[in-house]
Amino acid sequence: MSRRLGVLISGRGSNLQSIIDAIRLGELLASIAVVISNRPEAAGLLRAQEAGLDTLCLRQKDYESRDAYDAALAGALRAKGVDLVCLAGFMRLVGKPLLEAFHNRMLNIHPSLLPKYRGVHTHERALAAGETEHGVSIHFVTPELDGGPVFLQATVPVLPGDDADTLAARVLVEEHKLYPLAIRWFAEGRVRLDGDTVLFDGAPLTAPKRLDDGA
Ligand code: GRF
Repeated sequence: MSRRLGVLISGRGSNLQSIIDAIRLGELLASIAVVISNRPEAAGLLRAQEAGLDTLCLRQKDYESRDAYDAALAGALRAKGVDLVCLAGFMRLVGKPLLEAFHNRMLNIHPSLLPKYRGVHTHERALAAGETEHGVSIHFVTPELDGGPVFLQATVPVLPGDDADTLAARVLVEEHKLYPLAIRWFAEGRVRLDGDTVLFDGAPLTAPKRLDDGA
C-alpha cells in the first residue's frame, strides 16, 4: 500500500533528499504529502520545492505554547492525509499532541548506535569516548528523546585521524541508505510497533536489524 509521508525537517534536508530519490527510483512505494520545517531558513525547504513538493513552515514562536504548536503540526499533517511521519533532522522534542495523533506512526533517524549517545553532538561524543564503531539508528518516536524502540541500524568504523566532520560524513552515507529502507519496511507492513515491542514480519524483534541483513 502506498503511504503518504509527512517529513519534518529543521535544516539541510539530505535525508529528505534520500527519500525523494528512493521514491523517484521506484525503490519506495510512497509519496511525500508535505514537508514541514520549524525553521524558515532550512535548506531542505528549497530541496522540497525543487522537487515540486508541498511545503510548510510552522514556527514555535507563532504559538502560545508547546502544546499549541504540536497540535498545529498534527493538524497540518492530518489535513494532508499523512499516515507516516518521518522526522529527518527535526531538531525539536516532539510533544504529546503530535505523538498521540500519530501514535506508532512516527519514525526518527538518529546518528548514533542507540541507546548510545542520545541527543546532540553524537560524533564528537563517540570520538571522545574512543569508540571504534559508530553509526546510525532508526526508531519509532516516543515521548523520550531518541529513546523509542530501535529497529534498524548501520555501523561504520571509526578510523585513526577521524574528526567529527569525517566521521559524520561516513555515517551520513549510511543514513541515506537506511531511512528509505526503514520507510519501505513500514510501508510494506513488515515493521510495526505493538505496545513497546517492534514486530518484524509478525515476530518480535529482539535486536535491531542491521543494514547488512538486507531487505
Ligand atoms: C542527520 O545526521 C540525522 O541523522 C540527524 O540530523 C541530521 C540531519 O541531516 N537527526 P539532514 O538535514 O537530513 O541533512
